[in-house]
Amino acid sequence: MVNLLPRVKVAKVDEFPPGTKKSIKASRTRILLVNAGGKIYATQSLCTHLSNPLFTGKLQGDLIWCDKHWASFDVTNGLVKDLPEGGAEIAPLKTYPVHIEGSDIIVEVPD
Ligand code: FES
Repeated sequence: MVNLLPRVKVAKVDEFPPGTKKSIKASRTRILLVNAGGKIYATQSLCTHLSNPLFTGKLQGDLIWCDKHWASFDVTNGLVKDLPEGGAEIAPLKTYPVHIEGSDIIVEVPD
């Protein structure tokens, strides 16, 4: 059985030049949408350490740094690259499939 996630149009491609990062509501799920080096990725919107919003963090290359305690995550796969200050173990970010259809950015998110 194929488990299809709802597909939600979240933005226009021309609204998302490289370096853009935004917190967006996709259906009932809030996501972080980023353009890292010309490719668009979607992850959960909150840091897995203490739930700081990640859209206020620093995006450099494929990494987003949380601006609360400086954990960093790879937006291409959600993996933790740097632990937060103090070294607490934290979970990776959830990631969501992104599709470009014409001028639209579509994200598959759980309902
Ligand atoms: S809340 Fe993000 S690193 Fe602590």
